[in-house]
Amino acid sequence: MGTISLSEIPSVSLLYKLGKLTAPTATPLHPPKASHNDRVGLIRGDITQLRVGAIVNAANRSLMGGGGVDGAIHRAAGPRLLAECFTLGGCETGSAKITRAYDLPCDRVIHAVGPVYDALSPERARAALEGCYTRSLELAVENKCRSIAFSAISTGVYGYPSDEAAPVAIAAARKFLDGPHGYKMDKIVFCTFEMKDVQAYNQTLPKYFPPTEAAVGPDETTKAEEKKETEQANAVAAELPSVPKSDPSQS
Ligand code: APR
Repeated sequence: MGTISLSEIPSVSLLYKLGKLTAPTATPLHPPKASHNDRVGLIRGDITQLRVGAIVNAANRSLMGGGGVDGAIHRAAGPRLLAECFTLGGCETGSAKITRAYDLPCDRVIHAVGPVYDALSPERARAALEGCYTRSLELAVENKCRSIAFSAISTGVYGYPSDEAAPVAIAAARKFLDGPHGYKMDKIVFCTFEMKDVQAYNQTLPKYFPPTEAAVGPDETTKAEEKKETEQANAVAAELPSVPKSDPSQS
């Protein structure tokens, strides 16, 4: 199975240029910032193929593997990953621990333990989910990873609704990039898998990372430049791996 390099993962800026993301209908929650939009990426596919600094696993408290993305990561990394996880003594919900990546194309695996969605106390679940993203970003920086790719933590077996989980994930990324350590990360990637998450991220990203003026309906004077940039962007897009047509999870 091929791997995907960081440069092949489309940024939010490129996705606006390609019309794959559109400006939010309501007032965005944050001001547009081109440097942020260049450093947030979105791709649909198998996270084990991404050649990034760190991929973030959706693990359980034992860190002893499981199904879903946890199973895929352990299968792709090989048995040495489980051996290292065994030495970690588990991990609390809402936090994360880091290991090497062994046979995976990335450098590190961050094992985040998301909450099981609890409709009775959604705020507690939200705080734990936010903790997974915040702690994962801290671990990536502490371990000198310049790029990180998140799976959609808790939105599978743990039942967190995708349209509620995506804002938590994306808000944590915006807070990190706006914060004192934001400059230490070249790219934060969201790796979706099922269509429900693709839709959630397509709808939510523009609220937190809105397009800059240049990316939406240029005035007459910049139309020619924009046309040239779009042609260039389309040329890049033609090189990008095609988005799976069916839910990879169904295969
Ligand atoms: N690449 C990227 N994303 C994937 C992949 C993959 N290869 N496989 C599954 N996913 C997506 C799912 O579609 C979902 O959006 O990962 C997200 C997380 O789903 P789960 O893997 O079910 O994880 P989670 O909901 O956090 O439940 C964790 O499930 O597998 C067990 O050991 C794990 O007990 C833990 C629980």
